[in-house]
Amino acid sequence: MFNQIVRFWRRKDTENCAEAEENELLKRIDKNKLPCHIAIIMDGNGRWALRRGLTRSYGHRAGIEALRDIVRICSDLGISFLTLYAFSTENWKRPQEEIDTLMNLLVEYFHKEIDELCENGVRVHPIGRISELPASARKAIDMAVQRTRENKGLTMNLALNYGGRHEIVDAVRAIASKLANGSLRIEQISEKLISDHLYTAGQPDPDLLIRPSGDLRISNFLLWQLAYTEFWFSSVMWPDFRRIHILQALVDYQQRERRFGGLNKKT
Ligand code: FPP
Repeated sequence: MFNQIVRFWRRKDTENCAEAEENELLKRIDKNKLPCHIAIIMDGNGRWALRRGLTRSYGHRAGIEALRDIVRICSDLGISFLTLYAFSTENWKRPQEEIDTLMNLLVEYFHKEIDELCENGVRVHPIGRISELPASARKAIDMAVQRTRENKGLTMNLALNYGGRHEIVDAVRAIASKLANGSLRIEQISEKLISDHLYTAGQPDPDLLIRPSGDLRISNFLLWQLAYTEFWFSSVMWPDFRRIHILQALVDYQQRERRFGGLNKKT
């Protein structure tokens, strides 16, 4: 009993410290200089679970908690676009059981979260080769897209069966077919035209890319769109990633000088 009480107060202490740090970080964030678009590679679910002697599937389930928290904070802060890498074109190489868990979690996530997403004005926009996903996943995605289509708050791009190279291939195919049927001339091909044929057409490129879990690579994510994005890496595994980490990333982001290949004001 005594040990339980000690554990309770220790947990309370940790929570209070985290809350105090969050408030401190919030004070340092300039609300007028927030990134318009944040992209996140939700990585580390498997390692998080294995370190605890649990199955990788358990790690993905824990990853959903982080997903909820991060969508909430981004929506509360007034971020316009949040792109989340949930399932890559390469993830089909994983054991069928893990793939099934991820697809089932996707269905469960949308059914459980749809009301809150609507209340917060979140618009769901899947990106990737969605037509190749299992029927149950497509049905849940369709439902979420339909229910949230009129929402005006945060746009949540959920990258599913997504690959940056596939995305470019799909854009090239669409452009080539317009050239072939005469509705487009070669001189009209520009950076903007290519952007307009990506899954993220009409959206600004990400200002900030966050990758938790310690790996320092972009793993075929948003290859075209990340040209001038600021990167922020963290060793925290995705299931442990919470609002405090987003706030840390934002404070760091706001201290950077983005030059887009130009010079800073003083030089
Ligand atoms: C990468 O971690 C994560 C994924 C492949 C899936 C991300 C999924 C979630 C956060 C939860 C499911 C959410 C939806 C909406 C389907 P990893 O498995 O590669 O981890 P590791 O690098 O430690 O092995």
